[in-house]
Amino acid sequence: MSVVVTRPQDRFRADVDGQDVVRQRARLPAHLYDKLHCPITGDKLTYSRDTHTLTGGALAYPVRNNVPLVLRGSALSDALRWQAAEQRGLKTRIRSMVPSPVSGERQRRYLTEFLSRRTPGDLVLNVGSAGWDLGPGVWNLDLLPFAGVDLCCDVHRLPFAAGQVDSIVCTGVLEHLADPVRVVAEFRRVLRPGGAVLCTVPFMQAYHADPEDYRRYTAAGLRQLFEAFSSSEVRPSHGVGSGLAWVGADALAAAFSFDHNRLHTALTLSLRWLFAPLRILDRLSEGSRFEHVACSALMIEAVR
Ligand SMILES: C[S@@+](CC[C@H](N)C(=O)[O-])C[C@H]1O[C@@H](n2cnc3c(N)ncnc32)[C@H](O)[C@@H]1O
Repeated sequence: MSVVVTRPQDRFRADVDGQDVVRQRARLPAHLYDKLHCPITGDKLTYSRDTHTLTGGALAYPVRNNVPLVLRGSALSDALRWQAAEQRGLKTRIRSMVPSPVSGERQRRYLTEFLSRRTPGDLVLNVGSAGWDLGPGVWNLDLLPFAGVDLCCDVHRLPFAAGQVDSIVCTGVLEHLADPVRVVAEFRRVLRPGGAVLCTVPFMQAYHADPEDYRRYTAAGLRQLFEAFSSSEVRPSHGVGSGLAWVGADALAAAFSFDHNRLHTALTLSLRWLFAPLRILDRLSEGSRFEHVACSALMIEAVR
């Protein structure tokens, strides 16, 4: 089975070119609407085609452009205000020209392996997905309705009843969350016994807010976070070359931009291009039992 893993910036380009590939996927099928529960009260949500709302008990959630927004308060206002046009601003265009500071090759391989173990009909969630497409049958969840997101919700309160989900993918998200301990407990709650989760987290990466960036993880810290699961395995998902390329380029850009925004953007852009070849070093250390000491990111696979 092959998995299409595209960078968010590639999706953005596809959107700008008018190939509305992603939007076509942003429709939860009826059987998934049936599985949604209110994250506050736990009541089953019922969809009304007339009002485009999901209702459960006293609470209702809007469905906009076929994407349920199971959010409340400021998170809901942000999602409602969010415009696809925001992805077309100058900053995003510039950012889309910067090569990814990490090589995604190994993560892609591990993801393919993980997803090949699911059986047809499994409920598989990609949590904090942005616009990544992991192939048919993997549902994208995020706070914001980026192109390709199927369901907007806060990962701290997933809109599913206990034991309903077969697999969860969550790459590059835990460092951005206010309460990752609660989120991991939430994964455990919604997974069925025997269900599995795959997470990648940064160990040696530069600061990158989305919308914030709170922490980094060691292999031991990651194991401890998932200690309530029945089994887990940790391995580096991005090697030392990715770490050096990202931290090196961003550190030099910070040091030589003299607090000047435009200079900082220009330096980041050019230094990331310059440092990108270092990513090849990831291949040299793969498989070494010492790699976790200085890798860019770690991956955990844990079974409920
Ligand atoms: C760095 S991106 C990772 C995107 C993608 N998983 C990847 O590997 O490229 C982090 C994503 O997490 C989402 N996110 C942050 N906080 C969230 C929350 N509380 N609930 C759901 N998604 C969240 C952000 O909107 C963003 O799309």
